[in-house]
Amino acid sequence: MQFDIATPTMSEQGSRRLTWAGRRMPVLATIRERFRADRPLEGRTVVACLHVTAETANLMLALRDGGANVALCASNPLSTQDDVAAALVAEGIPVFAVRGEDSDRYYEHIHAVLDMEPDITMDDGADLATILHTDRTELNPIGSTEETTTGVVRLKAMAEDGTLRLPVVAVNESATKHLFDNRYGTGQSALDGITRAANVLIAGQTLVVIGYGNCGQGVALRADGMGAKVVVVEVDPVRALAAAMDGYQVMQADDAAEAGDIFITVTGNKHVLRGRHFERMKDGAILANAGHFDVELDLEALEAMSTERRPVRQNLEEYQIADGRRLLVAAEGRLVNLGAAEGHPADVMDMSFSNQALAAEWLVARAGTLTPAIYTLPPEIDRLVATIKLESLGGGLEALTEEQVEYLTGWREGTA
Ligand SMILES: NC(=O)c1ccc[n+]([C@@H]2O[C@H](COP(=O)([O-])OP(=O)(O)OC[C@H]3O[C@@H](n4cnc5c(N)ncnc54)[C@H](O)[C@@H]3O)[C@@H](O)[C@H]2O)c1
Repeated sequence: MQFDIATPTMSEQGSRRLTWAGRRMPVLATIRERFRADRPLEGRTVVACLHVTAETANLMLALRDGGANVALCASNPLSTQDDVAAALVAEGIPVFAVRGEDSDRYYEHIHAVLDMEPDITMDDGADLATILHTDRTELNPIGSTEETTTGVVRLKAMAEDGTLRLPVVAVNESATKHLFDNRYGTGQSALDGITRAANVLIAGQTLVVIGYGNCGQGVALRADGMGAKVVVVEVDPVRALAAAMDGYQVMQADDAAEAGDIFITVTGNKHVLRGRHFERMKDGAILANAGHFDVELDLEALEAMSTERRPVRQNLEEYQIADGRRLLVAAEGRLVNLGAAEGHPADVMDMSFSNQALAAEWLVARAGTLTPAIYTLPPEIDRLVATIKLESLGGGLEALTEEQVEYLTGWREGTA
């Protein structure tokens, strides 16, 4: 078996981590049990480009139990948990991922999983799908799945310009993914990343959230709960208004740059904080990104303004600006929750990865019948995932009475 990981000797530690995460993923465990019996992916090759974490490892095992040959590479050079990679290799699953790998090795790893001639590819950010549309057009998988907002944006752009040549399930569009993973997962783990990188007290700080989408709403909610003065920067008037009515101050980036102590970008956009903003920031301001790619902070501009750049803590670098101020960047401007912490807790990845497993099953069941387009999983899957998750949390679901069903589906009853 071929693989490329940091050190196979860490497998025992990784395996403990994997088991712990698995205990907090009851929905995926239910699917895995059914997969073991039904083998819906029998003989299929499923390759994934996802963050190599304990939660992803549980997804890989579920897919394998469903009959698939699986392989995994990283969707970010800084998010790999090397011990988990070793645990998967010990389980006989090929992994190509090393924390801190450079760009060449990152893409070598993508090619290594594609060399397995997959039937299904799984992406977090559409890097596999992009290579399938550029360098590896000889491969023809049944379809692909996409985990995150930015990946879906890229794939929709491919569909719009007529380039898309595969059916893709946009897992991010499922309600049980984006309303929970993006919101509660990013909300908690981005702040976890900042506190681990800088060990700062959030209470009393002015924390600027740039982008008030599903992720930004979660970050603002949690920062508010920890006592921060939350400022939101948005370009969409409806979302900016929602932020204002949620009780946050809404500002333009230039003003927020002067006010903020901590900045978190979550836009999926490029250079949302750039030279003009760095010029206005306070000495000691902390900058972090929780959006998918490391392009939200214009670090080239920051570097150009700096006389020196030095590490001050693990995952925290200080840029010495020529005018004497110091700006601190967490996790190299990459996803702070994965670069400086452990990513989302298993409890929420349970739902995201259950949707991934069911998306693979959905694609295999429809092999050869789907045209190249972006698909969303049917609402029954959201209801199934939410119902099992709610049961695991001990919540009871109310049922409609027959009279209520009749009322909701009829039109004759109105003003009494
Ligand atoms: N850190 C993680 O683990 C994690 C998890 C899920 C998603 N993501 C990523 O986070 C990013 C955001 O995801 P989302 O689901 O919240 O997306 P979203 O589309 O719901 O929200 C993004 C928001 O950013 C705003 N925006 C865009 N450009 C802006 C600018 N220049 N200034 C201010 N606001 C701007 C948009 O108007 C939008 O409201 C994506 O890149 C996504 O892939 C990260």
